[in-house]
Amino acid sequence: MIDYADVIVDLQAGDTGKGKVAHAKCKGKDYTHVVRYNGGGNAGHTIYHDGNKYVTHFIPIGVVYGIKSIIGLGCVVDPVKLEEEIKDLEKGGFDVRENLFIDKRCHVILPEYIEEDSKDTKIGTTKTGNGQAYRNKYNRTGVRAGEVFSEDMLIDMYEEFHGTEEVRILFEGAQGFELDIDFGDYPYVTSSHCTVGGAILNGVAPQYLRDTIGIIKAYRTYVGAKDFEGDSEYFELIRKAGGEFGATTGRPRQINWLDLDDVIKASNINGVNKMVVNKLDVLEDVNVFKCIYKDEEVNFDNSENYIKFVTDILMLSCASLDEVVWSRSPYEI
Ligand code: IMO
Ligand code: MG
Repeated sequence: MIDYADVIVDLQAGDTGKGKVAHAKCKGKDYTHVVRYNGGGNAGHTIYHDGNKYVTHFIPIGVVYGIKSIIGLGCVVDPVKLEEEIKDLEKGGFDVRENLFIDKRCHVILPEYIEEDSKDTKIGTTKTGNGQAYRNKYNRTGVRAGEVFSEDMLIDMYEEFHGTEEVRILFEGAQGFELDIDFGDYPYVTSSHCTVGGAILNGVAPQYLRDTIGIIKAYRTYVGAKDFEGDSEYFELIRKAGGEFGATTGRPRQINWLDLDDVIKASNINGVNKMVVNKLDVLEDVNVFKCIYKDEEVNFDNSENYIKFVTDILMLSCASLDEVVWSRSPYEI
């Protein structure tokens, strides 16, 4: 039976530090399960564990703490790339195979999907076959994990969560609100549900949710085909200082100022009660503090004033929000 589930959800366009927050939250080992609830190899979650850097795409971060980790039924999975990722993590000494499971209903990314995705120029996808896997899922022509993976890797999330043992789940989201198939800037979106709704679709009803933790950065990034970067001499400096290059594709991420109007909307739709603002140090390095509020650019002299303004506006405007936590990189809480 489910005691509670916490959800980590990105309120921007991905790459806000979800993996780092998930990693930090796993440290106490309170969770019995960590579940990735959407997306596939398009995600790139970077963490630092015992001083070493690891990038995961499919695998929930719980494996580095020996917590049972599930690629949820809302995900799509590429067996070939997953195997490579398992081997990479095993080199770090983690007992991945012991702790990693895939829901049998999860859809499989086939080589021909990657071939098709590699020709994309319209959306600027990660070319991981993600959209094709979801398309075929909904077209009812897809292949599910139960048909492809060996029995010892498969799991049924219903049986796992609704048995006699108490479970405490951390949902680790991928992508973010601005890339959500419904709420994002269609068609410049990914093909899955990146809100808290995506977590619930994995068979965990809203009654079980405890914290919905929204993650943003102190500025804004996007990777893809649309023109996103504004006009400022600071954006190149922010890109460099923040290391804003894709963890999956290496592409430079486009930069813009934190848009509070968008974050408020994303927070309200997700019912966020805790918000984490990552990478404040990048703005401090570049020594520029600006955000967008009610479609206007607002400027600040220093970090303290920026923190105060943004926190006050968020606390006032995000209906369910109780707490805003600021973090410098690497994620330090
Ligand atoms: P994480 O989990 C940032 C973007 C792609 C492209 C669009 C569609 O690391 O935050 P897709 O391959 O999903 O069909 O591409 O979505 N995108 C991401 N951007 N972070 C991600 O994941 C992303 N996953 C997909 O760049 O614009
Ligand atoms: Mg990423």
